[in-house]
Amino acid sequence: MYPLDLLDTARALAREAGALIIEGRRTAEITGTKSSGVDIVTQMDVESESLLRRRIAELRPDDGILGEEGDDVIGTSGITWVLDPIDGTVNYLYGLPSFAVSVAAVSGPPRTREWTPLAGAVFDSTGRLWSATTGHGAWLDGVRIEPREPVPLANTLLGTGFQYVAERRAAQGRIVAAMLPRVRDIRRLGAAAVDLCLVASGNLDAYYEHGLNAWDLAAGALIATEAGIRVAGIDGGMPDEHLTIAAHPALWDQLRDALVSAGADHPFDAL
Ligand code: IPD
Ligand code: CA
Ligand code: CA
Repeated sequence: MYPLDLLDTARALAREAGALIIEGRRTAEITGTKSSGVDIVTQMDVESESLLRRRIAELRPDDGILGEEGDDVIGTSGITWVLDPIDGTVNYLYGLPSFAVSVAAVSGPPRTREWTPLAGAVFDSTGRLWSATTGHGAWLDGVRIEPREPVPLANTLLGTGFQYVAERRAAQGRIVAAMLPRVRDIRRLGAAAVDLCLVASGNLDAYYEHGLNAWDLAAGALIATEAGIRVAGIDGGMPDEHLTIAAHPALWDQLRDALVSAGADHPFDAL
């Protein structure tokens, strides 16, 4: 069946690029910067994305590509691959464990967020593979992820992350400071795709982050959703570059309200 073919392809691509980046980690070097001096690119980000693009061209030549490190490819099939060749590049460079390859197939135009996720896979540094296809559930290493019971906000282990621009980080720091007394604890693990998968598999209770790109969240949001997690933006609609909130459906509204009280609805207005 069609989405299951895409799932197999997403899993294979994430595994292949994952093996490449794990093999090449010790040789990683910074080759450029992007949104700020601390937003780095290594040669392995580029090599991983090149591998993914080459394999998509071989396997699915009519599909489009939206990848973090390269130009958009406009396809003719209506399907676009959304690629983060290394999510968690800073961890990757420093030898910290939270990094991954994130691969998703979506229908519709991904830069406008008017897209529908079809399949996704996230392969992390430890060799764990999370994956999902729309309507068929989410899987961790071949085992179906079952929905979990909610926890109260006060018992929530909450993941988050920060953008690379200093002024934005200052605003994000104020929000996280206001959230910290309201939850069990906060984790900043350093790879958004993995964070979303950790919510899916119950290693975090919830997660929020401002400023994610499509490639950070396309696969992880589908995996979390298929695991029974609500993943949405501040208005309850599709998550976007403004804000992504992932939590059990019974916790989601309360977490959103706590985030709004913490200033998360318009944190960058003054910038
Ligand atoms: C980053 C990571 C990080 C998140 C940033 C992302 P990159 O992706 O996911 O956890 O906080 O918002 O940009 O740059 O390592 O691909
Ligand atoms: Ca990323
Ligand atoms: Ca990346």
